[in-house]
Amino acid sequence: MADDTHVLDAPPAGASADWTIPQDWSHYTPEEHATWDKLFERQSQLLPGRASNAYLRGLDVLKLSRPGIPDFEELSDRLMKLTGWQVVAVPGLVPDDVFFDHMANRRFVAGNFIRRPDQLDYLQEPDVFHDVFGHVPMLADPVFADYLEAYGKGGQRALELGALKQLGRLYWYTVEFGLVAEPEGLRIYGAGIVSSHSETRFALTSDSPHRIGFDLARVMRTEYRIDDFQQNYFVIPSFDELLRATVETDFAPLYGELLSQPDIPVGTIVDGDKVITNGTQGYARSKAL
Ligand code: PHE
Ligand code: FE
Repeated sequence: MADDTHVLDAPPAGASADWTIPQDWSHYTPEEHATWDKLFERQSQLLPGRASNAYLRGLDVLKLSRPGIPDFEELSDRLMKLTGWQVVAVPGLVPDDVFFDHMANRRFVAGNFIRRPDQLDYLQEPDVFHDVFGHVPMLADPVFADYLEAYGKGGQRALELGALKQLGRLYWYTVEFGLVAEPEGLRIYGAGIVSSHSETRFALTSDSPHRIGFDLARVMRTEYRIDDFQQNYFVIPSFDELLRATVETDFAPLYGELLSQPDIPVGTIVDGDKVITNGTQGYARSKAL
């Protein structure tokens, strides 16, 4: 949602006014199911000991290990019983207000197409693997489920306050690329990481990126890149803490203060950062050559 360059301004033919479409599960080809299975197997082998406990629990209780692309209706039934969320299909990226409205009402919008077999490792648009494998397990966690609903409401407010850029960064650095410090060590929970074979390892073990303790204002000032591995990750102490720092804070005065402060480029450490890893930035530098 943060990168809205591909968004249309009206629902495409066949979509409802709220931009949803039928998932039309029976139309997936055997090859498409096989792509899911391949991605699923690769990632689910890698994630124990790397993904947060909340994520792994979600993967398990939602029975995502069953072969094939999940049927959203069935998935929504399970999710509804656990946390009251549903998964609805959309053709691709949707406008911000549509995205926030679904989220504020506990509906997670998921792309229903799947990447081609030659795109297993990288794809810029969110497909069903990213959206379902990456995001939906966290929705089975009651605390994270509340966080995302509050985020949707916060989005509607940010639209009115002209603070979409700041709020979008919070999404990016938590929902998409967040790390959490668990008693056993750092773990990933952001969907952009858990759905990426290469970034799963990079985010946790590369000496290149900075890993910085989560601070709301700091995150909202930080730029991000959408074309390669992140140059900084933000680490929350727990999901309860994330909820406290966001749901229980009124963002309006904060947005006002942020207007007078410069944005922070990626890959920088600033005064006041709780630095967990001071990265070499070697990976980003080698790519920039
Ligand atoms: N508390 C935020 C506000 O006042 C809303 C919000 C909650 C935003 C949780 C993001 C996440 O706008
Ligand atoms: Fe996503």
